[in-house]
Amino acid sequence: MNFSNLLIKWYLQNKRNLPWRNTTNPYPIWLSEIMLQQTRVAQGTPYFLSFTTTFPTVFDLAAASEEQVLKLWQGLGYYSRARNLHETAQHIASDLNGIFPDNYSDLLKLKGVGEYTAAAIASFAYNEVVPVVDGNVFRVLSRYFDIETDIAQASAKKKFTALAFELIPKDNPALFNQAIMEFGALQCVPKSPNCSICIFNESCAALQKNKVGQLPVKSKKLKVRNRYFNYIVASDENDNTIIQKRTAKGIWHNLYEFPLLETEKEEGFDFVSEQIQNEYFKENSISSILETNDKSIVHKLSHQHLHIKFWKVNINGTIKEGIDQETLQSFPFPIVIHNFIEKELN
Ligand code: ADE
Repeated sequence: MNFSNLLIKWYLQNKRNLPWRNTTNPYPIWLSEIMLQQTRVAQGTPYFLSFTTTFPTVFDLAAASEEQVLKLWQGLGYYSRARNLHETAQHIASDLNGIFPDNYSDLLKLKGVGEYTAAAIASFAYNEVVPVVDGNVFRVLSRYFDIETDIAQASAKKKFTALAFELIPKDNPALFNQAIMEFGALQCVPKSPNCSICIFNESCAALQKNKVGQLPVKSKKLKVRNRYFNYIVASDENDNTIIQKRTAKGIWHNLYEFPLLETEKEEGFDFVSEQIQNEYFKENSISSILETNDKSIVHKLSHQHLHIKFWKVNINGTIKEGIDQETLQSFPFPIVIHNFIEKELN
């Protein structure tokens, strides 16, 4: 049996029963593929279920507020995906009568939909013959065919897409695309795959040459930027606090946070309390400042490591524009702040 037939046979026997499969409706397919970018199935599935329950159609998603969408997305990370999702839902609902584009090149024009996602929707919903090429596909093909092309380079995508196009059965592209991704997720895993039980263990070039651990080749380690965040968690005599919206482009755009003092390095009590005294709450007097975690919480994003401390600042009198606990909980926060609120302010 050739590669594609064997792969599909494996898939039919081993596939997981996932809630976005067994449909050709582009709306849940699109939702799932956006959610599963940079996200594991186990983490993404509850979000998929809550989104499809809360917003059964693209019109429901379009009609929601951005804040509602971000709140439901809270904890899934890469929040630009949620903002693009919402914007695209509004475009489809108002400009396209709720009807998704029905081919790869028109899907590609949607905001937040790249080559991978357009190929996934076009094949799963419309059986268009376009191969998906994601990290799973790079891994499976580079190993099976012993391809040493550096997958960090832009040209790699073209090469692997061309190869996948040759392999994809023209009469069932959807099944092949699902199969190769599932195979990468379950069998041909990044670390220590169990090749002894693999259906390809007699034909996989990397296995024969003992190169499974070296493939795919991926160069250029990202340079990580360290940032030091001090969050000022005010509390006035009514137990009200203040938050602000991150309106600047960059991480956590349009999510909420406590007032932020960003420093060049990790700072201790003396430095931070002096800054707080001099720069914040000028109209009130401060009764006490408490460092809640003397060791920073390290929150790792793809390109940045955030070293976070929360400082509780008790204020005499009342603060202008303070909000109470219940109101606080209704805003969308980065998960690290949400966790702090849950643990320390309840
Ligand atoms: N990861 C990305 N898309 C997926 C899909 N459709 N099924 C399983 N895992 C995925």
